[in-house]
Amino acid sequence: MDKFVIQGGTKLQGTINISGAKNGSLALMPATLLAPGTYHLRNTPNLRDVWTMSRLMGSLGAFCELNDNELFLDTRNINNFEAPYEHVKKMRASFYVLGPLVARYGMAKVSLPGGCAWGPRPVDLHLKGLEKLGAEIDLSSGYVLAKADKLIGSKIHFDISSVGATGNVLMAAVLAKGNTLITNAALEPEITALARMLVKMGAKIDGIGTSQLEIEGVDSLKPVDEETIPDRIEAATFLIAAAMTQGKIQLNKTNPYHLSSVIAKLEESGAEIDVNSDVITLEMNEKPKATDIVTAVYPGIPTDIQAQWTAYMLMADGSSKITDNIYRDRFKHVPELIRLGANIDIIDNSAIVSGVNMLKGAQVMSSDLRGSVSLVLGALVADGTSEIYRIYHLDRGYEELEKKLNNLGANIKRVKTDII
Ligand code: UD1
Repeated sequence: MDKFVIQGGTKLQGTINISGAKNGSLALMPATLLAPGTYHLRNTPNLRDVWTMSRLMGSLGAFCELNDNELFLDTRNINNFEAPYEHVKKMRASFYVLGPLVARYGMAKVSLPGGCAWGPRPVDLHLKGLEKLGAEIDLSSGYVLAKADKLIGSKIHFDISSVGATGNVLMAAVLAKGNTLITNAALEPEITALARMLVKMGAKIDGIGTSQLEIEGVDSLKPVDEETIPDRIEAATFLIAAAMTQGKIQLNKTNPYHLSSVIAKLEESGAEIDVNSDVITLEMNEKPKATDIVTAVYPGIPTDIQAQWTAYMLMADGSSKITDNIYRDRFKHVPELIRLGANIDIIDNSAIVSGVNMLKGAQVMSSDLRGSVSLVLGALVADGTSEIYRIYHLDRGYEELEKKLNNLGANIKRVKTDII
């Protein structure tokens, strides 16, 4: 296993390219199950989660090869309809294969994902949506068994706006007989990008980019080539890292529009930000101002930057309140940040962060993807050396994180360790 050894105290300065969106790729890949054929998905990030999805698709009979961020997929020989626990336990997004498999092949057996390190993550909305489309759903021995001779269009209202449930049900509905109306659909850019790819494949979808998706089912779809959108969470993480170290960075290959809420909050905290086409520059010349955030569905502040913002606010004067309304228990990083010298209280679903003058290098443990990167941010500004264990969590969702940070002036080494 690898750990990071981070020498703190450098300002981040320079230019980097932002990778394709992890959550974008994880939605586009299962969509290829809907139409047997060959696909090129460009700008696919080279990440553990993408490997996990490739392995899962491979176990269904697909061929996947990732070279220089171009993913080649061949789904002509799908011959297995089961997504085993082995894959789904590693990555919840594996559940995305359920909708396409039942829509295209009439059956699917997918392991229930279970919880996450930081709390429960139900899939009831995915299942209710598929049942509404006429799928017969049974739960047995930790698996979902879904069957349908032919899905039938229906009206589906999601009580909660869910990225995964919208994606899953949308992928199923495009091949259903008749019309489907999804209300309170997720607005996240990764879902909009999925809908756009489905339309390229021949699906009929109105209302893309809104919370009301109208789908007219078609008999079949065709394979396409597609480009993955930029990773807005990676971009936000680098912007926060630069602001936290009072640095100056330029991010290329971004979509600033997807980052409007985060940019507004960074500006409120004192950062100077310029946006030009797909380039974002940030300069921070002062201590950040204490700035509260409340996570919300898109276009609100993403829950996937809550942990990073919590670390950022440790550098502010005064106290700030960070409230997670999407995942109310997502605070596993807090005890580890406290090991670095943080002063944070958790009250219900909020972290109350008191600015500290300095963090001090320490040994800390990653628990989940975004939580781990908040520890990296803490270590970047800490006095002395920090060691971060279980960084395989980071490898799930950040392409070449230490290389990119080191290019910006950080001092991070990846080292083998026996400590697990
Ligand atoms: C996706 C993202 C994840 C992000 C999250 C919220 C991917 C692969 N992952 O996860 O990075 O943190 O969106 O933006 O794209 N819910 C239910 N029942 C369900 C489904 C969800 O109650 O059946 C609830 C969840 O507990 C949560 C909320 O809905 O409170 C939103 O979750 P959801 O949007 O579904 O998250 P994911 O798709 O799992």
